[in-house]
Amino acid sequence: MLSAILASTLALAATTSASPILSKRAGVPPTSSSTGFSLVANVTDQINYPWASDVNNWKVSGSHVGAGQSRMILQPSAAPTTIFYQNGTEGITRDSSNDYPFSIALGPLYSDPTVQYVGINVGEGTKGVSVGSVVAKVDVGAPTDPTAQGTFVVCLEDQQYQIRYAPTAVPEGCAPVSLVAKCEALENLDESGLEYHRDTPAAVSCYENPGSIVWSDY
Ligand SMILES: *[C@@H]1O[C@H](CO)[C@@H](O)[C@H](O)[C@H]1NC(C)=O
Ligand SMILES: *[C@@H]1O[C@H](CO)[C@@H](O)[C@H](O)[C@H]1NC(C)=O
Repeated sequence: MLSAILASTLALAATTSASPILSKRAGVPPTSSSTGFSLVANVTDQINYPWASDVNNWKVSGSHVGAGQSRMILQPSAAPTTIFYQNGTEGITRDSSNDYPFSIALGPLYSDPTVQYVGINVGEGTKGVSVGSVVAKVDVGAPTDPTAQGTFVVCLEDQQYQIRYAPTAVPEGCAPVSLVAKCEALENLDESGLEYHRDTPAAVSCYENPGSIVWSDY
């Protein structure tokens, strides 16, 4: 009896080992897990913001604006992929061979302090910015915080699709988006498996191919 169970368990293990380990939960697409990920924009309301359909599934990258400062923008899927890792709960940092880490940082926008810019800036990231475990998208602050009603938005400015964070209302000329994690392999770990010889990337939930998810199926 025991050996029969063992044999069927082994057979199951053998048949499933080639495919990624998917974590299934009712009502949401199944996630995989990875220490590296890129970010892809999911336009959450294409009915009220039809112009933003153009950038659905575009990828997040940085646009240099000054020494050690980049703004998060969207680029077409043919653009190079920017890969990130999550450093515990300390924030999200770029996987890179640079001498200094660049991390996702939020702060008040100069032209409208009710909105937050989203930077990829030298140094540590904004704490609490992390990938959710059930829905693999970037959350600002604890995902269980009931007061966290904000959303990332995409805004067309200076001929760039800039990503910002709107804590309360979607600003004029912007459209709400989620930043969804796509599983990637980290390319700049050192021989000890660390980034920048000090950070241990955490395993996060992510999607193998977020662009192919039909959200209305869930
Ligand atoms: C992605 O956008 C669709 C609407 O197009 C929405 O139903 C779905 O909830 C969104 N997913 C996430 C993770 O925001
Ligand atoms: C990673 O987290 C540690 C604390 O756990 C912190 O000291 C370090 O500065 C963080 N690295 C980055 C790039 O934020």
